[in-house]
Amino acid sequence: MNIEMKRIALLTSGGDAPGMNAAIRAVVRACSYYQLECVGVFRGYQGLIEGDFKELGPRSVKNIINRGGTMLKSARSEEFRTKAGRQVAYDHLKESNIDALVVIGGDGTFTGASIFNTEFNFPIVGIPGTIDNDISGTDYTIGYDTALNTVVEAIDKIRDTANSHNRLFLVEVMGRDAGDIALNAGIGAGAEEILIPEQNLGRDRLIASLKRSKKSGKSSSIVVVAEGDQIGKNIFELAEYIRQHTDEYEVKVTVLGHIQRGGAPSCYDRVLASRLGVGAIDALLEGKRDVMIGISNSKIVHVPFEIAIKGENEIDLDLIRVADIISV
Ligand code: F6P
Repeated sequence: MNIEMKRIALLTSGGDAPGMNAAIRAVVRACSYYQLECVGVFRGYQGLIEGDFKELGPRSVKNIINRGGTMLKSARSEEFRTKAGRQVAYDHLKESNIDALVVIGGDGTFTGASIFNTEFNFPIVGIPGTIDNDISGTDYTIGYDTALNTVVEAIDKIRDTANSHNRLFLVEVMGRDAGDIALNAGIGAGAEEILIPEQNLGRDRLIASLKRSKKSGKSSSIVVVAEGDQIGKNIFELAEYIRQHTDEYEVKVTVLGHIQRGGAPSCYDRVLASRLGVGAIDALLEGKRDVMIGISNSKIVHVPFEIAIKGENEIDLDLIRVADIISV
């Protein structure tokens, strides 16, 4: 089925992620390829409410495939959470003769899209863009691979100091309630321990493991802590607890923070974003609505928003086993 469409709007919402620009570029150029008009909306749903629109052509997105952030800017709109706000957004779309909307973002973005679609029966498709990799139905989200590489590079540097001073570093990484960044970057950076929200093994086990490491001849240690981990009140309190219960190490804390969201996207993220961007326009032309365009076993898939946001992001238990084995 090839649905009659003329004009498509595009926005990025929620936390920015490296590769969002590559996805914008792909959507805009796919529109041009299929002779559709493309309108960029600035600052996510807030820009829909304010009517902050700009026509985009293939040359408007030149030289952005390699840039972090999002040229359309992003926001977390409180107003769009209200029915009145969504009505104004809908009115702006109609006034501008927009036939469909592509949203790039994470679960908050898709929740908003799904509500909007239900209320106004407006065609929307989503592209998963978040460093957290916490969306169901897609193996990867745009930005995750770049964030992993940023974290591994940062921990490699921290390890130099850990080694030189015989220190124990607790390194906090992002991921909201998901441990994907911590687990994979932790394995990639050779961390001795990885603490993730999906698995709370308790402080006593951590202390016992750190003591064992010291006895086995390790002079320094890296513990990667996912920001959503529940083992302590926060990473500083956990550091204090370790100081009180071991005298084996000098304990330091590094919170990597927003460095993980910035920088040039990796090649993997650029290719993923390009495939998902084209996939979004293909899906709209095939008559798909209310779905996220994801990737599963290297193939493009269409996942209903309600499944994508269900929050059943399962951690790979085998990765936990591997991390345990290689940190002896
Ligand atoms: O969702 C991406 C993310 O970077 C999370 O990892 C983190 O918890 C959150 O956004 C931080 O949000 P903000 O940039 O609004 O502080």
